[in-house]
Amino acid sequence: MKNLIRTSILPMLSVMLLAPTAALAETGPEVFKSQNCTSCHSVTKAGISRDATPDDKAKDLSDVGARHDKKWLAGFLLKKNDLEGEKHKKSFQGTTDQLKTLATWLETLK
Ligand code: HEC
Repeated sequence: MKNLIRTSILPMLSVMLLAPTAALAETGPEVFKSQNCTSCHSVTKAGISRDATPDDKAKDLSDVGARHDKKWLAGFLLKKNDLEGEKHKKSFQGTTDQLKTLATWLETLK
């Protein structure tokens, strides 16, 4: 009985406890899409294209991490920082966690 608990029931319990959190956490590309960044930007490097009627001024973000770090990126998406004297067009609507995930991912694009 003790063995049964150790080999079957405990692993099952831990899977049940861990699964929901894993399912909730979005990846950077998922946040990028769910926050409609693709209505203006593509990230060709990650296989993300922009929508049919894009904003032509918005760049592809495949190497955005080479220009900015995640702190700057998060601030820019909240319209706190300027880019060449201008604030970003869109104010970030997601949660703080989503913003962190997104900025951390964008920083890796180099
Ligand atoms: C309505 C169109 C639009 C939407 C939606 C939009 N952006 Fe932008 N974004 C722009 C424009 C225009 C610029 C300035 C030109 C440029 O650098 O691409 C810009 C600039 C940026 C930059 C700086 C790029 C650089 O090279 O320095 C980042 C990073 C960025 N956007 C990320 C995002 C993210 C992430 C989202 C989704 C949360 C998003 N944008 C949604 C239009 C948009």
